[in-house]
Amino acid sequence: MSEVRTALERKLKERSAKMAILGLGYVGLPLATVFGEAGMDVLGVDPDQRKVDAINKGESYIGDIESKQVAALVKAKKLRATTDFSELAHVDAVSICVPTPLRKTGDPDLSYILSATEKLAEQLHPGMVIVLESTTYPGTTRELMLEKLTEKSKLKVGEDFFLAFSPERVDPGRTDWTTVNMPKVIGGITPACSEVAALWYGQALQAVVPVSSAEVAEMAKLLENTFRMVNIGLVNEMALMCNRLGIDVWEVIDAAATKPFGFMKFTPGPGLGGHCIPIDPLYLSWKLKSLNYTARFIELASEINTNMPRYVVSRVGEALNEHSKAINGSNVLVLGAAYKPDIDDMRESPALDVIGLLREKKAKVTYHDPHVPHIDHEDWQMDSISDYLKAAAEADVVVLVTNHKAYDYPELLKKSKLIVDTRNAFGKLAKDDPKVVKL
Ligand SMILES: NC(=O)c1ccc[n+]([C@@H]2O[C@H](COP(=O)([O-])OP(=O)(O)OC[C@H]3O[C@@H](n4cnc5c(N)ncnc54)[C@H](O)[C@@H]3O)[C@@H](O)[C@H]2O)c1
Repeated sequence: MSEVRTALERKLKERSAKMAILGLGYVGLPLATVFGEAGMDVLGVDPDQRKVDAINKGESYIGDIESKQVAALVKAKKLRATTDFSELAHVDAVSICVPTPLRKTGDPDLSYILSATEKLAEQLHPGMVIVLESTTYPGTTRELMLEKLTEKSKLKVGEDFFLAFSPERVDPGRTDWTTVNMPKVIGGITPACSEVAALWYGQALQAVVPVSSAEVAEMAKLLENTFRMVNIGLVNEMALMCNRLGIDVWEVIDAAATKPFGFMKFTPGPGLGGHCIPIDPLYLSWKLKSLNYTARFIELASEINTNMPRYVVSRVGEALNEHSKAINGSNVLVLGAAYKPDIDDMRESPALDVIGLLREKKAKVTYHDPHVPHIDHEDWQMDSISDYLKAAAEADVVVLVTNHKAYDYPELLKKSKLIVDTRNAFGKLAKDDPKVVKL
């Protein structure tokens, strides 16, 4: 074992290693908190001055992390943030949690990983362990990061420094499985890289799952998210088919879910949302295209899921038609804008498409979301209305897009004239009630 590795492992075990997290968003801030609470010195590095200032003032801007947690860590000098990447010169361990979105063309946008890696390369020194957490296609850690890190340096991976991939699986808003107890898959560029990275993460996280390579770890994350995307696509298509057959898809799903094995319950909805499920599988299909292979399940599921907002709007049109009304000119109240219940995350939310399509068809659209006070999207902006029950009574139709717990469903049912329920939020309350149209 190299002397460099022995010294680094000692610091990691003693928790005296200095670590940095590049990217202090939904993934990076919870990770910083967990490592800080495990006793490590954490430096958050992010180009966003507002996030940096908030952390240094002891304020959280992420729903799952309380300001008092951040404040306690800042006070104990276990957490500090900066926009200055040159501070990485004094850091032993670096996690990269930067965004991996899609470009307008639908291709992966690796510019954030590239720019973080370039800045890190300037400070690369012997005895550094680096873990990429951002979801990406298999090969990114080796082909892109390793190449950039070693372009101008003579340091050898697996001996002088250590590089691994470890996918983040956090599900914002969830309280049973969080950053600290979620099993963490880690795969290194070399076996030594896996071992050092696993040793580091094992100091703060409850379960580390080492795998044989960075590529296995990268692909495992994509399998998990593709599994969800394809199953959501399947159940959304079930909803379309059941509608044609005049069968209640929700009852069908509940019946199928009584099977004790071989079935996993997924539910249909207005479309995919969030930073992960609609995007990550497309990283895989893009990579496969470069190898002349079409990822058919991904393409098909993506097509079905992407069309769900349009299907919801067609159901709104049909529902209004039954009341001798058109979408054009009707007052439509959209309830829930976040992409899933009880959080404020608007990224890729299907509500944006539902509202946009209704506006295109000249509906008078208002929305309410207890977690999202304002929407600023492409060419339109809107404020959440204050009294959703009053607005529901005045609307020609209420479209329930996100089933937040905060809603008073019995009151909504009493007050509304017509409801299109895309989540079966009214469930048994609305049984046989003709004013509730289910997906
Ligand atoms: N949000 C989730 O629930 C979730 C779950 C699992 C995996 N992921 C993956 O984790 C990664 C990060 O996602 P997120 O939700 O935390 O994103 P985010 O947008 O909330 O945060 C990313 C942060 O990175 C910062 N940043 C941008 N460029 C940077 C650079 N060059 N150096 C340092 N910081 C930089 C941004 O300012 C931002 O604060 C993505 O790859 C995502 O797919 C996210």
